[in-house]
Amino acid sequence: MILTAFLLPGCEGVQSTLAPAGKGAEQIAMLFWWMVGGAVVIWTVVIGLAIYALHLNPAEHRRKQSAIWIIGGGAIAPTIILSVLLIYGLRLLPPLLAKPPEGSLQIEVEGRQWWWRVKYRQLEGEPIELANEIRLPVGEPVEFILTSGDVVHSFWIPALGGKVDMLPGRTTRLTLEPTKIGTYRGVCAEYCGTSHALMNFSVVVLSKEDFEAWLNQQKSSAYQANSELAIRGQEIFINSGCGACHAVRGTSADGTIGPDLTHVGSRNGLAADALPNDPESFRNWIAHTKTLKPDALMPEFQAFSSEELSALATYLDNLE
Ligand code: CUA
Repeated sequence: MILTAFLLPGCEGVQSTLAPAGKGAEQIAMLFWWMVGGAVVIWTVVIGLAIYALHLNPAEHRRKQSAIWIIGGGAIAPTIILSVLLIYGLRLLPPLLAKPPEGSLQIEVEGRQWWWRVKYRQLEGEPIELANEIRLPVGEPVEFILTSGDVVHSFWIPALGGKVDMLPGRTTRLTLEPTKIGTYRGVCAEYCGTSHALMNFSVVVLSKEDFEAWLNQQKSSAYQANSELAIRGQEIFINSGCGACHAVRGTSADGTIGPDLTHVGSRNGLAADALPNDPESFRNWIAHTKTLKPDALMPEFQAFSSEELSALATYLDNLE
């Protein structure tokens, strides 16, 4: 009882398969509980039999009775139980792999060492690009179109459904349907190098209206720096060549190597959810990239003065 009380809180939270918030995750959680139920019954029966056997008279048993126990308990019963669980598990597969209805929202996600490029496909025009954050409308199937820019990654939002590998040179697909409004966490589920564990993303499930409003805002160009410090930050950003890797729509920064920063200030986290999103984190990240995320491709800019870092941090934090 005490052990259960300690373990159960671990089942909740933003990254739990046992607190499902999506159709796929609900089915997977149900399968898990049936498996646990089956295991508990089998364990109880086996231990019960072992205790019973210890108390038996060690005299010789009749052959027929022994054969019933060995064949029945050792072969027939496990075959029936495992077959039932297998059939139940296999029946769950087709809906998990089903294609979404025509016209569903499509989101391209590319795994990178160690962040996520996210593009919302639009009916017309270029996709809307962001990074390390995915927002979804509740109650609607969404198709993820998954690729990798370097090594094998694996796309997994435990609260919403199963995981799918992202493979260089190939496209894989996954359909998820969130059922509960809330904020969850996505992770990379395949070891992909030094900073594999620092490659996460935020998943925010919104009402349809809130989602549309958010998507429209993401579509827009970046906010125009208007305070003295932010304008100074933008100058440093452009003049130091940050735009060679990063894009900020509406400015001359149009790099595609690193994450799109057009609305970086509006995201829940920084550096693929490795840091909270605040000016202090921007300062730290720019000056200590390699410490905060070993082997990250972005260079450390230790040459910036404290004043320059503050200006950059203000500019980036204001990009909402
Ligand atoms: Cu990407 Cu592990």
